[in-house]
Amino acid sequence: MTFRTLDDAGPLAGKTALVRVDFNVPMEDGRITDDTRLRVALPTINKLREAGAKVALLAHFDRPKGKVVPSMSLKPLVTPLSELLGSPVRFAEDCVGGPAIAAIRDLDAGGVVLLENVRFHAAEEANDAEFATSLSELADLYVNDAFSAAHRAHASTEGVARHLPAYAGESMRRELEALDAALGNPKKPVIGIVGGSKVSTKLDLLKNLVGKLDRLAIGGGMANTFLFAQGVDIGGSLAEKDMADTAREIMTEAAAKGCEILLPVDVVVATEVKPGAAARTVKTGETLSADDKILDAGPDSVARLNAAIDASKTLIWNGPLGVFEVPPFDAATVAVAKHVADRTKAGDLIAVAGGGDTVSAVNHAGVTDDLTFVSTAGGAFLEWMEGKPLPGVEALSA
Ligand code: 3PG
Ligand code: MG
Repeated sequence: MTFRTLDDAGPLAGKTALVRVDFNVPMEDGRITDDTRLRVALPTINKLREAGAKVALLAHFDRPKGKVVPSMSLKPLVTPLSELLGSPVRFAEDCVGGPAIAAIRDLDAGGVVLLENVRFHAAEEANDAEFATSLSELADLYVNDAFSAAHRAHASTEGVARHLPAYAGESMRRELEALDAALGNPKKPVIGIVGGSKVSTKLDLLKNLVGKLDRLAIGGGMANTFLFAQGVDIGGSLAEKDMADTAREIMTEAAAKGCEILLPVDVVVATEVKPGAAARTVKTGETLSADDKILDAGPDSVARLNAAIDASKTLIWNGPLGVFEVPPFDAATVAVAKHVADRTKAGDLIAVAGGGDTVSAVNHAGVTDDLTFVSTAGGAFLEWMEGKPLPGVEALSA
């Protein structure tokens, strides 16, 4: 898709930009424990400041359900954000009306104000037109830099874009370009890795992918469901046995569409999920006991998957291959992540990964910076992989 960016916005000096960011950061006792989402917003904020615009930052935090919940205020972000920007950041006690208008009016060119949690208003999630209009009255242009909130059709992500010239921010632009390179308009052959525990939460995603990919490797707990559906003994492994028919349907559809499905050919089995637990590797198809649990893919599966990656030009990855949080069941995920990193660094592969657990898994393998792009978006990344239009992105289409 084509979308408008800040390069299409014309001169910005003296204008006010209303910038939707995703500052839904992890916090403990009023302190940020991971400031990635603040850092991600810096290029857009700085670009606007350098162009002489006033910057009003609009964001949600947590799920206050339309009420003022003091513990969900965005105020604790003011200091960390001003430290990152190297200049003061003002705060407005409300994101619309008097407090917001006054705070923006008092800014110098290049000044920044953070507006209070937009979800303190029930009208936000209702995508209320009047509320969207009030937001739009604060500014001359709207910039959406919150890909990770773009699956929400809310006033601050969708409605407001109808009332102002609307542009993708720098981080939104990077994200959309990476996603397009992975699934929209990729270099073929394309391989996907989908892991995680449940087939049921990733049904739409699997169905969309089998129609688009040349190969799809299935890992994690959901591979157990697929193996079970093929009549393989999975012992006492986590699986959704009632999804066996669905798993077979997906296999049939993949075959019809020319997508090769890669399931583990060997697995790592243990009777308990704890660090350093006694584990053994077995070929899939061997008889397991009732307390055996499949917790990771085995070395033959890793070798086969790595060879399939070598035969591909693009990789899209969501979900770990095993219980990577509990070593030694991180072995397959780490080995494949390192291989992906090597191929990417060599210029042989475009590798895009995303979704909550995937980011932790790639971080755990220490290769985050070596992939082409790692998306920190959770729900938005999944919905995009499902092939669903994201309202916040659609609103920016040129
Ligand atoms: C996120 O943290 O995933 C986004 O900010 C969206 O938050 P939400 O799931 O509460 O809409
Ligand atoms: Mg969330």
